Amino acid sequence: MKTYKDIVGDGGSNIIEQVTEQGNRLSDRLSSVRHIIAVMSGKGGVGKSSLSVNLAATLAMKGNAVGIVDTDINGSSVAKMCGVQDQKSTPGTDGMNPATGDLGIKVMAIDLLLADSSDPVVWDAPTQKDAFTWRGMMEAAAIRELIADTNWGTLDYLLIDLPPGTDKLPNVVDILPRISGTIIVTIPSAVSQFVVGKSIKMATDILQTPVIGLIENMSAYVCPKCGNEDVLFPTGHVEKLAKDYQVPYLGKIPFDPRMAFASDEGRFFVKDHESLPAANAIAGLGEKIISFTESQQD
Ligand SMILES: Nc1ncnc2c1ncn2[C@@H]1O[C@H](COP(=O)(O)OP(=O)(O)OP(=O)(O)O)[C@@H](O)[C@H]1O
Ligand SMILES: [Mg+2]
Repeated sequence: MKTYKDIVGDGGSNIIEQVTEQGNRLSDRLSSVRHIIAVMSGKGGVGKSSLSVNLAATLAMKGNAVGIVDTDINGSSVAKMCGVQDQKSTPGTDGMNPATGDLGIKVMAIDLLLADSSDPVVWDAPTQKDAFTWRGMMEAAAIRELIADTNWGTLDYLLIDLPPGTDKLPNVVDILPRISGTIIVTIPSAVSQFVVGKSIKMATDILQTPVIGLIENMSAYVCPKCGNEDVLFPTGHVEKLAKDYQVPYLGKIPFDPRMAFASDEGRFFVKDHESLPAANAIAGLGEKIISFTESQQD
């Protein structure tokens, strides 16, 4: 059997034309999307998906048409957090139809395309070694298709929830014709900040994407019984990190167990608990995104 190593030239696949065509399709598709915001962090488990989902909700509550795409192919969580994991994406006349959640939020994720959303994604190849070799390219191609082949309609904001890893932003920057801004998420622990510093460098120095700023998640603990806030990690370091890397510090979001419960139930915390400190903080972050994107249009 021939493998990719035996192929001379493009092996008759007309690959250049295919990639160009897909790039054009992506540009056409995104021409009806006003702002594209990437939510990233080099570190895993810091709240990227929870914040993406709740930011989508707060932007929608302010009257915007919002979509969200989960680019985590192997660990997607956005569809479940938006309560749409049982809505399967269906083919329409103009691409795949995204799921539609509460507040009219359009959602696309790999789970919506799998027959059983609990199945892992396995890259197929003649041997596992070849599958590993292709994985990065296949992953980028899958993300491109999730964005380019989805019938988003007209959107004010498309949020891109990235998987953990400093190398993930380049994947989407390579694919997308433009990014309006990047939000970088960290928690206050020293280990997280070390890795997040690398993400900031990647976003600013290497890729030169517009950075909206750094957000400090899980800054304190809010007791659901008495409402008291208590310290979770040593404070002040994230503001210093933002200063050191010369990116705006966007503020703190406390840890509130009700956010975790709401996500698990597929409900929007910011909608169910609008007056709580963590919901207020996310609404404030939404305002900053709106101001940033509006200032970019001038
Ligand atoms: N401010 C918060 N208050 C309470 N729970 C939170 C908060 N932020 C995140 N969580 C919870 O922490 C867990 C991890 O969050 P989440 O999945 O959003 O992180 P992530 O950065 O997207 O992870 P991954 O790197 O795996 O993609 C989830 O259970 C989520 O509900
Ligand atoms: Mg995530």
